[in-house]
Amino acid sequence: MTQFGTFDASYEAAGKEVGVRKLVDEFYRQMETLTEGQHIRAMHKEDLGTIKDKLALFLMGWLGGPRLYPDKYGSISIPQAHQHLVINEQERDAWLLCMKEALKVQDYSDDFKQYLIQQLAIPAERIRLSAKS
Ligand code: HEM
Repeated sequence: MTQFGTFDASYEAAGKEVGVRKLVDEFYRQMETLTEGQHIRAMHKEDLGTIKDKLALFLMGWLGGPRLYPDKYGSISIPQAHQHLVINEQERDAWLLCMKEALKVQDYSDDFKQYLIQQLAIPAERIRLSAKS
């Protein structure tokens, strides 16, 4: 059995581009809906169009799929991209909660949902450590 995290197994499990875009749409829908999401929603621009595209393209490459983000938006360091923001445990946990709720309604296996949220917690924590507090 192919392990998540090897080659493009995670990208496949996430439903490729269509699946990742669906996840990102739901993630921002959760951010706009959940009480815990209000504060981090306010850190974003009013229009979420570009950030949805950026997060989707970034995640596609991060999951082992095509690396489209750099072609369209240039090279990126995830901690650096968040350095101007105040991100403490509350903001990190709110981000992960929105993602967890978004994963609940995806047509993914429970194993993959659990794997993905654990993997996303790693950059989220790295961001917290290097962002403003
Ligand atoms: C730890 C909690 C996080 C918070 C509160 C947060 C918040 C934000 C905000 C407010 C922006 C927009 C910045 C701006 O327009 O100036 C942003 C951009 C972005 N975030 Fe996060 N984020 C978090 C974690 C993550 C994680 C874990 C990832 C990826 C796995 C991620 C990927 C991105 C990407 C790709 C961008 C676009 C950066 C750019 O192109 O400039 N974020 N984030």
